[in-house]
Amino acid sequence: MARARIGVYGLGTMGSALALNLAEHGFDVAVTNRESGWIAPFVQEAGPLADHLFPHEKLEEFVAELQVPRIVLFMIPSGAPMDAMLEKIGPLLGPGDIVIDGGNADFHDTRRRCAHLSGNGLSFVGLGISGGEAGARDGPSMMMGGSEEAWTAIAPILTAIAARHEGEPCVARLGPDGAGHFAKTVHNGIEYADMQIIAEIVGLMRNGAALSPSEIAAIFAQWNEGPLRSFLVEITAEVLAERDPETGHPVVDVIKDAAGQKGTGRWTVIEALRLGQSASVIEAAVGARAWSAEKETRQAAERVLGGTLGAITATPEILAEAFRAARMLAYAQGFRVLAAASEDYGWALDPGLIARIWRAGCIIRAEMLDEIAEAFAGGAPRGELILAPRIARALALHLPALRQVVAEAVHAGHAVPALSAALAWYDTMRRGHGTAALIQAQRDRFGHHGFERLGQAGRHHGPWWD
Ligand code: 6PG
Repeated sequence: MARARIGVYGLGTMGSALALNLAEHGFDVAVTNRESGWIAPFVQEAGPLADHLFPHEKLEEFVAELQVPRIVLFMIPSGAPMDAMLEKIGPLLGPGDIVIDGGNADFHDTRRRCAHLSGNGLSFVGLGISGGEAGARDGPSMMMGGSEEAWTAIAPILTAIAARHEGEPCVARLGPDGAGHFAKTVHNGIEYADMQIIAEIVGLMRNGAALSPSEIAAIFAQWNEGPLRSFLVEITAEVLAERDPETGHPVVDVIKDAAGQKGTGRWTVIEALRLGQSASVIEAAVGARAWSAEKETRQAAERVLGGTLGAITATPEILAEAFRAARMLAYAQGFRVLAAASEDYGWALDPGLIARIWRAGCIIRAEMLDEIAEAFAGGAPRGELILAPRIARALALHLPALRQVVAEAVHAGHAVPALSAALAWYDTMRRGHGTAALIQAQRDRFGHHGFERLGQAGRHHGPWWD
């Protein structure tokens, strides 16, 4: 007994892929699952890697198989199942042992669990893991939140199995308690934004420029050779080129246009708003998924509101530039939310480090993250990515294209909520003097709320109260 360096609880898609990744890197891994019937087939399918797997059906035996300090990686649904498992496993563990939650957990839960378990001498780690099944098996990007002691114990294991970007492992301790799960949440928010931007551009190409899915696939494949290179562009090209074996139609044409969402995008938006921010491109993406899910209402509205879609003249080159600008603005908003949360929770997040560990393994890996990592390394005034000189220059270069695309889309009746949110944010931020003085005046007029005067300290009221 006590042969395993780490235990993996939960042999679903992600858990089993991670267990195999660990075994492949020479770690002896205790494995178990709530439905015990999954365990034997998993070990059987592991082939030669099974030599590194130690299966157990009983939780007590699974725990007894672990070397001290015991490290248990939970890959189970976040929320109530995690709390239930902590109740069960807590009494079997001792001071110094480490429990890792590798799911997409709400970072508020992670903070609560950290505080609760530290009372028992246990270390709770919130580990954001990105990359889907392939990433988990061959090298994910991992965002760790937890104590430095826990990091010292698990770093050699996580570093071995992580994705690598030019040799640098895509894993890091980002801060205490919820820092890792929050970074993963924002990663997913950016993922939503990027996917929505892509969907809008593909929509313009199809409905505004009459290009076929295979023609658009070819353009995306070409984009993936340049500055837009990214996992999401790569798979967009693949997906658009695919045909449905049943009907012979492009696969995208047989899929119901109603997007699902499990909550991480929404959490990013909620937290941004709570922190007094607005990650409007991410918000647009979350909202667009919600509208997409209202298929029947949209069908009814089409009959009532109808109307045609006009043509778009923007070339693929212009669309590519607009995409670059909007993508950069979406990333910039994500990093602002990270900075605001870092300050609020005292995490001292390093945005450059986060950009670096997102360069490989994760869903939003993209050439642009190199630019972002370098921009943070060179210093971003006020921590704002859009103010970093190289990013500001790139935005200035590509903004006219974004403006053209949004203007054409609006004029021709195409919905582009993410692209237009990106543009509106840019146009708001580039004006030192905005339009909110009137809002302050109205607030004071109807509610005696008071306002600050330009260049004068204190709270003032308008003459309407004299
Ligand atoms: C990742 C993904 C992963 C998953 C999301 C998708 O980083 O590997 O983000 O976590 O695909 O859960 O979320 P939705 O189902 O909400 O789109």
